[in-house]
Amino acid sequence: MKYILLNLKIEKSFEEKIYMSIKKNHSLKELNTFGIDVKANYLAEIFSVNELKDVLKDSEFNNLPKLILGGGSNILFTKDFEGLILKISIPGINILDENKENVIVESGAGVVWNDLVNYCVEKKFGGIENLVLIPGTVGAAPIQNIGAYGQELKDTFLELSGVFLDSVDEKSFTNSECKFSYRNSIFKNELKDKFIVTSIKLRLKKNPEINSSYKDILDELRKSNISNPSIKDISNIVASIRRRKLPDPVEFGNAGSFFKNPVISLTQFEELNKKYPGLKSFPVDDRYVKISAAWLIEKCGWKGKQSGNVGTYHNQPLVLINYGNATGSEVFEFAMEIKESVQTKFGVTLQNEVNII
Ligand code: FAD
Ligand code: EPU
Repeated sequence: MKYILLNLKIEKSFEEKIYMSIKKNHSLKELNTFGIDVKANYLAEIFSVNELKDVLKDSEFNNLPKLILGGGSNILFTKDFEGLILKISIPGINILDENKENVIVESGAGVVWNDLVNYCVEKKFGGIENLVLIPGTVGAAPIQNIGAYGQELKDTFLELSGVFLDSVDEKSFTNSECKFSYRNSIFKNELKDKFIVTSIKLRLKKNPEINSSYKDILDELRKSNISNPSIKDISNIVASIRRRKLPDPVEFGNAGSFFKNPVISLTQFEELNKKYPGLKSFPVDDRYVKISAAWLIEKCGWKGKQSGNVGTYHNQPLVLINYGNATGSEVFEFAMEIKESVQTKFGVTLQNEVNII
């Protein structure tokens, strides 16, 4: 039931309020794509900014630890959550402004990211078509500046709005204020777990520039004999590559890439490449390159390996799989074994992409 009933709280007892609006001792198994079976003391599903502010100001809850949850597709729960989970389900997609070239689209944080992509592709608004089928919600997209197949959120991102957990003050952040970089933003650093995104605005192109630079896309375009692709073609191609390469969380619990691709200095890369020719690299700037974590992990012998309920995906060893009823700790320990062996063999430190709770 919706939290709207909170304004009845003065007349209601605490237990009644929980009964009406906030779920108690709730299982999170269906709310994380790893399918880890843990519980939260309290779970509030939030449908508007006002509801969010009401919950944050509520004296019953303001001293509890809080966790912001979208689609749970980049989270690994290693234990029960002793506090209040705020599941952000704020809906709505609107066109705010447009001219001949551009359109400003605003979306609520609870909108499913892929629904926003499909909405834009259907309307021929270009800029996020390569990000099709990334699981999760719009509100989580800026947290790690989601990216895939040659596009990142930051390329079209205009601004976001939200609320600070402690002060309950509202604030907007422009693109530069978000300090986006590869799988990173201010919300994973200074403002980690301190700010709740409630909506975002994107600036999209009406005459889109097609981004087909990613090798897999180029291969598919050649195979299908498409020389002048539309954004719909690109989103169809990316969707089919993703379906082929990545496991569906409904079938195999996972959270996508468990680690980020390491960014190392050119000097370190040259040394490694002498010893291990074939190491894939992608330029970052004059001094740094990104190398493939999947390649490093495969070369350590982890591809398709399984230990108990946990393993790496047979097509993509960067993706860890819950093959049964794995606990979050089992997944985490398996991940740490991988990290250690990559460190020992290559001297490269893998960083988690997945948020460990
Ligand atoms: P959650 O997992 O619920 O949360 C992730 C983090 O964001 C948590 O720290 C949470 O507290 C915080 N958060 C969530 N919502 C908000 C909010 N409204 N305000 C503030 N903080 C919030 N990612 C990519 O970048 N590229 C990919 O290609 C990609 N492919 C994937 C493929 C698969 C099969 C899977 C399972 C995941 C993949 N991911 C990918 C990771 C994931 O889809 C993204 O990180 C996504 O943005 C997570 O969204 P979510 O709503 O599920 O976030
Ligand atoms: N590779 C191997 N062995 C494998 C698979 C891949 O060596 O089994 C090497 C190959 O050299 C391949 C390279 O890894 O060319 C890159 O593989 P892929 O195209 O699958 O991409 P990735 O670098 O492994 C990244 C993102 C994905 C994103 C894809 C496509 C990160 C951490 N991961 O994966 O994002 O979808 O590129 O752009 O940056 C996610 O963040 O959860 C995620 C799935």
